[in-house]
Order: sequence, then structure tokens, then C-alpha cells
Amino acid sequence: MLRRPRRNRRSAAIRGLAQEIHLTPQHLVQPLFLVEGSGVREAIPSLPGTFRLSVDEALKEVKACMALGLQSFILFPKIPDNKKDKRGTFSYDDDNFYLSAAAEIKAAFPEACLISDVALDPYSSDGHDGIVHDGKILNDETLHVLQKMGLAQAKAGFDILGPSDMMDGRVEALRVALDEEGFSDTGIMSYTAKYASAFYGPFRDALDSAPVEGEDIPADKKTYQMNPANRREALIEGELDMLEGADFLMVKPALHYMDVILTMKQHFEVPIAAYHVSGECAMLMAACQNGWLDYEQAMPETLLSLHRAGADVIITYFAKDFAERCG
Ligand code: PBG
Repeated sequence: MLRRPRRNRRSAAIRGLAQEIHLTPQHLVQPLFLVEGSGVREAIPSLPGTFRLSVDEALKEVKACMALGLQSFILFPKIPDNKKDKRGTFSYDDDNFYLSAAAEIKAAFPEACLISDVALDPYSSDGHDGIVHDGKILNDETLHVLQKMGLAQAKAGFDILGPSDMMDGRVEALRVALDEEGFSDTGIMSYTAKYASAFYGPFRDALDSAPVEGEDIPADKKTYQMNPANRREALIEGELDMLEGADFLMVKPALHYMDVILTMKQHFEVPIAAYHVSGECAMLMAACQNGWLDYEQAMPETLLSLHRAGADVIITYFAKDFAERCG
């Protein structure tokens, strides 16, 4: 036998020489769920280890993460029902706690990278990412709301906007609005290939943002989020986002869509992000809590595998746990 691949696995030192990729906290983004008020730290039953935080608690969390070398955060708001309406107007309201919380975090940690969520659903009484009218999602009207929301977020100090709504034309609409108002340095991480997935359940519990069953509209997002059966269609979305000025392209979910991550990595030159979504994290947590999997091994292997598949950036509820184990 001339070739024996096992020779390169013989000792830890040799395995180290042969290791192809390395995952460090600089690739990771920690999601934070924000709520109004102070002193709030509410557990989310379907996503153990993740909490809804008021801004004072979020500041503590950011500080702890920064000390571990984890510098990027994606923020999501839980909006009280009485502030929701059909057009998501609270998303750009001067009194929006999400915007003021981002400003406070940015002031306290200027070197942190803050990523926003641009979509109507947390603010929409219909729980949809676009304006609902006569059983339809109004794509182009929604773009105007997204522009106002995105500008308010840029003004609040977000470094990167994260359009997660899947309306056609949103990246260009945001880019134009940002540039016109002098925010040419604010980036866009587009949820390029976001699938109509069953794995967003715990997130929708956390934000109380599930789509509402209407008389004329179903409680799903299949007319705007992508069909899980499609991979080549992700390239259409990717080409559009490149033309429209996206700085990062995202695939979401991550674990179940690794082929899409690799395809995007092969086709586009901007960094590729993968969103390891709530349901994918919850699955692993549940198996570990049952003693069926070992968290200490399964969690880092999961994140490493996403990086190997082509994700330059990984958004994951395990970011802080991973960083803690790197020290
Ligand atoms: C909504 C949005 C969703 C997630 C991020 N932004 C859910 C949805 O589309 O209903 C899901 C993230 C997760 O499950 O962790 N614009």
C-alpha cells in the first residue's frame, strides 16, 4: 500500500498540520432578543440557554461576549401587541426601544458590529414580512416601509442591515435609501436564500411573530420565502443581491441547506453567511438534555461543519458557548 491516509491522523500534532479549516469566534454572530423595560431576562422554553433581554441586560451580555473575542451581534425586537399594526409603522417610530437599545449598545461598545433585522413581521399585526392586503403581500409598497425601517436603523448606529423579508428588490431599495441619506458605509447582509422552513419555530415563540391565519391568507410564508426543494433558484436570488449591492449573502436555515451554502460559496465572491436557526439549535439542545448527544462535542462539530461547507460567517445561538470553549 503506497498511500495510507491514516498516517496523517497518527498524532494530535500531525492532525494539527493537516487540519484544513479553523473556526474562531471572529466568524460567529450572536443573536440577541430585545424587549422593552429594564432588568428583564426571560427564558425561552423552546430555545434553552437563550433569553429575551432588556437593554441593561443586553449590555452585560455584549460585554461578556466581547471579552471572549465575540464581536458581532444580530438584534431582534419583541414588540408588544399594542404597538403592532398592518404596516409595521412602529419599526421606525422615535420611541422604538429596539432603535434606542442599539444606539446604547453602540455607544458603549463602538468596536462591536451590530446587525439589524429588516422585516415587518415583528411589527405586523398579521405576522407577515410584508403588508397584507386582500389576501396578497404587497411587495412594492412594503419596500417603502423597509426603507424607512432601514434608515432608522442606520441612524441608530447599526453597522449592517439584515433584510430578512424576501421581498423582491429590497436590497436595492435599501442601498439607494442609505446612499441618498449619507449612510454609504452602512452594509447590507441580505437573507438571500431564506427558505419557508419549519425550523423557525422557537424564534417565532421568542418574538411572538408567527404569521396569523387570515380569512384570505394562510399562516405560512410560502409566497415569499423559498421552496425547500430548490437549490438553483438560490442563484437567481444571489445574482440579484450582487447586482443590488449586498455586502454579504446569507443562506437560512444552515444545517439542512449545506448544499446551498456550498453552491453560493462557489458562485459569489462576497462573504457567505449561514443562519444556524433556532429550530436547528433547539434540536441539538434537546438531544443533549436527554443525554443522547454530548454537547461538548456535538456543538463545536456542528459549527465547524458549517464553516467547512462554505460559511464564512455563522449566526448561531451557540456563538457565546463556542467562544467560551476557545479560551
Ligand atoms: C423574520 C425572521 C425569522 C428568523 C429571522 N428573521 C423568522 C421567520 O421568517 O418567520 C428566524 C431565525 C431563527 O429561527 O433563528 N423576518
